[in-house]
Amino acid sequence: MTVQFSKRCQRTRPSAIRALFKKCVDPEIISLGGGSPAKEGFPLEEIRDITKHIIDEKTVDMLIYGLTPGYKPLREAYLKWIVEPKGVKATLDNVICFTGSGQGIDLTCEILLDEGDVVFVESPTFLGTLNVLNKRGVKLVPIPTDEHGLIVEELEKKAKELHPKMLYTIPAFQNPAGVTIPTDRRKRIAELAAEYDFIVLEDDPYGDVRFRGEKVPPIKLFDKADKVIMMNSFSKTLAPGIRVGACVAPVEIAQKLEVIKQGCDTHSSTLPQAIVAEFLNRGLMEGHLKKIAPIYAERHDALVAGIRKYFPEGCKFVEAEGGMFIWLKLPNHMDAKALAEKCIEQYKVAFVHGEPFCVNPEDGFDYIRLNFSGTPADKITIACERIGKAIKEEMAK
Ligand SMILES: Cc1ncc(COP(=O)(O)O)c(C=O)c1O
Repeated sequence: MTVQFSKRCQRTRPSAIRALFKKCVDPEIISLGGGSPAKEGFPLEEIRDITKHIIDEKTVDMLIYGLTPGYKPLREAYLKWIVEPKGVKATLDNVICFTGSGQGIDLTCEILLDEGDVVFVESPTFLGTLNVLNKRGVKLVPIPTDEHGLIVEELEKKAKELHPKMLYTIPAFQNPAGVTIPTDRRKRIAELAAEYDFIVLEDDPYGDVRFRGEKVPPIKLFDKADKVIMMNSFSKTLAPGIRVGACVAPVEIAQKLEVIKQGCDTHSSTLPQAIVAEFLNRGLMEGHLKKIAPIYAERHDALVAGIRKYFPEGCKFVEAEGGMFIWLKLPNHMDAKALAEKCIEQYKVAFVHGEPFCVNPEDGFDYIRLNFSGTPADKITIACERIGKAIKEEMAK
């Protein structure tokens, strides 16, 4: 049987990260490939206690159909504990909860984008979102970034010329680049969105996972023209298996997100939403983030030290102050994909090569993304030794 798949489906590529997950079944392999938080930082006791409490006290509530925009106590708790402390003014009418922020991104694209629409993304950017966008046949325009993220002068130049419908940005501890957009640039992004009439999808799953430096306000804080959707996730702050994300959106957009979500999954599972709501309402998030920060700092520093010790001269990267990734440029225009394949097969160490993170794959040809959050520091050091050896071998060829 030859199935005639939809054009959208044909435009969808398998995720390079998910493919790596499958290869990493060998316990010998050290993986710096995923985007998982430190398992050692999961608040296991609290989650157990909260889950038992909810199952005992609210059994029926957990089993009946819920409301599409989300479990009301979670929407309230999200406003109180996540949105308002960032200075953003919003009401329940602005809030929709999702089955992970990935669903939020997908549904946002669904309500806003038609084939051929111009969409700006950072170069490089999250490959999951690239897939979501490519599926819809939009015209993707990469906007250059530097060590402070999106370059706003480039954004303005391109906006003037190409009139985008949407900008997708990951402002903090960017995936894959690890960089953070400073306040002045964030303010300018909001101004440009108003001036050139485009929506900003501010995807911020990592902003609260900070282990160094000062907090930066969200782009949404500067959104006087109601153009910004601030998307958050509990995957990186709490646990990805919980699959809970939420956003603050302009009311008109929130209403459309609700309608489109009705036809998608009716509502996200209630129990995970209730767990997150209770976790927030017990006032546990701040302490939890403080508790996990040193784990992330230690792992980040082990990666940086490992790169400095074992990698050859000419590897370029920027240190991160939070999040999970370092994006590294290899020397001598080295083929990162071939290196990644060699590393997993010969050296039993995994990471993702740069191409899938770029609109123009050649822009990522000699880059690799290294994750530090999911692996203990001693193993990161071993991984660096192995990768460094492989790079030197390639250079000697
Ligand atoms: C930038 C970015 N956005 C969104 C997501 C999706 O997260 P989730 O669906 O688990 O909330 C990820 C996951 O890695 C990510 O890196």
